[in-house]
Amino acid sequence: MKIIYTEDYKSMSRTAANIISAQVILKPTSVLGLATGSSPLGTYSQLIDWYKKGDLDFSQCYAVNLDEYCGLTKTNEQSYAYFMYENLFKHINIDMARTNIPDGTNPDADAECARYDKLIEDLGGIDIQLLGIGHNGHIGFNEPSDSFKKGTNCVHLTRSTIEANTRFFEREEDVPTKAYTMGIKSIMGAKKVLLIANGAAKADIICRMATGDIEPECPASVLQLHNDVTIVCDKEALSVLAQKAPEMITNLPR
Ligand code: GLP
Repeated sequence: MKIIYTEDYKSMSRTAANIISAQVILKPTSVLGLATGSSPLGTYSQLIDWYKKGDLDFSQCYAVNLDEYCGLTKTNEQSYAYFMYENLFKHINIDMARTNIPDGTNPDADAECARYDKLIEDLGGIDIQLLGIGHNGHIGFNEPSDSFKKGTNCVHLTRSTIEANTRFFEREEDVPTKAYTMGIKSIMGAKKVLLIANGAAKADIICRMATGDIEPECPASVLQLHNDVTIVCDKEALSVLAQKAPEMITNLPR
């Protein structure tokens, strides 16, 4: 696990965008595993800037997103499909036919999860998976649980996740209670994993993820077992780890 310190959100975003750019340049046909939430917004905006300057070409890339709320159509402004279109896809030259996200409107959970797993397999797996992290250690929507879920699965969101996501909805009762999410096996199957986190509210969970037991109660802790994980955080998100295990941070300023 390589942990990189950055000063602030802007610098975290730039570093993450640099890592994704390198992937796209080195392998133009990359399968990019993408994430939603507030953490990746700056990364996407930096990638868009570099695309507009002519430094990046996404025309041969594929995208697979981590998760989607159950019950929301792609045109619903709160859906992750809409988020991805508005915040990244419509600004770059990715072929929309090569972008993928679980279909939240499919009521047949088993069929939808099987379809998504097969799609990832048929693409040859994910080259780089971008992740945020929930305050409770969730990745994608893999919530704390008593076992790691392997493939794409339909999850009941925890109260804390629903509360955290209420900020994106007008009323808490509008937040969907279920979601389809890639499973831990698909995430761990990515050739590279890039996790980003910013802000003091993520400091405890970043420390637990990196130093705690590997347990399904903290889903992100499983990343300790992956052989190519880069964690890029701002100063605040590293504040607890910097106290507890400073040697884990590659470039902690002295
Ligand atoms: C959501 C998403 C996750 C994301 C998490 C953190 O629940 N399903 O993929 O990592 O929120 O979001 P934020 O980046 O806004 O803190």
